[in-house]
Amino acid sequence: MADSRETFLVNAFVTGWPVKHSRSPLIHGHWLKQFGIAGSYRAEAVTEADFPAFIKSLKEGSSGFRGGNVTIPHKELAFKLADRPDDLAEELGASNTLWMEDGLLHATNTDGHGFTANLDDRHPGWDRTGRAVIFGAGGASRAVIQAIRDRGVSEIHVVNRTVSRAEELADRFGSKVHAHPTEALKEVMSGTGLFVNTTSLGMDGSEAPEIDYSPLASGAVVTDIVYVPLKTPLLAQAEAQGFAIVDGLGMLLHQAVPGFEKWFGRRPVVDKALRDLVI
Ligand code: ATR
Repeated sequence: MADSRETFLVNAFVTGWPVKHSRSPLIHGHWLKQFGIAGSYRAEAVTEADFPAFIKSLKEGSSGFRGGNVTIPHKELAFKLADRPDDLAEELGASNTLWMEDGLLHATNTDGHGFTANLDDRHPGWDRTGRAVIFGAGGASRAVIQAIRDRGVSEIHVVNRTVSRAEELADRFGSKVHAHPTEALKEVMSGTGLFVNTTSLGMDGSEAPEIDYSPLASGAVVTDIVYVPLKTPLLAQAEAQGFAIVDGLGMLLHQAVPGFEKWFGRRPVVDKALRDLVI
């Protein structure tokens, strides 16, 4: 006979291809332990070809999962296959968090929440100038742009090597978002209180260009969504030039909060013990 406790076990996943480097099992495992919840959270490696079948089994209830996180390369397909994507996922055309509710698959995107919650935590007042420069126009910059626009940042300048990609984001996100080529970086930084690196420059020890941050507003904060290394070359330069810096690890930790709450029913906090564990 089955152990009666198993009836109430809640299981959640992170799926991607590959997925073995994901830190999410560590994060959710920490919170499950902290709350003493008899649930599980585990990595499920699923290829692109197998992803629709994986979602089908989730919807049918045969997978044993209540929901989970979705990472590269499945975020767009997860959005498309969901029954009830929310407004955030709809605008981004991508979802990183799924859950079953009343027999329907719901989807949201928590990357933007992770970004702003990390800044609120580490540098309150980051939005005081109402101006931001976003360096890079790839997938990662979308959620950042959406989140700061929704928080009332009224002038968002996207600077990118391939200016057409920045223009595509300006078209997508409306009149508060402006596109510029890299040559305009210094000019658009003038009087800005928030600088965000969303490019892969400096990731995993790669070369990064020298940036002169001096046109930024005094008291400005520079942040990076890359967290390996924790202090990226672009952050180290900003710190040396006297600006406040916020690393990207907190974004990863905070984006996990809404999903945990959906699946396991408790709102976890991002504490020092978690940061130390995931670093
Ligand atoms: P992600 O989805 O993680 O954001 P991406 O879509 O590959 O990844 O985007 C990477 C970003 O880093 C882009 O803005 C890219 O600029 P381009 O759109 O011009 O490719 C930027 N990037 C990567 N390498 C770069 C480099 N050597 N110099 C300047 N920008 C770079």
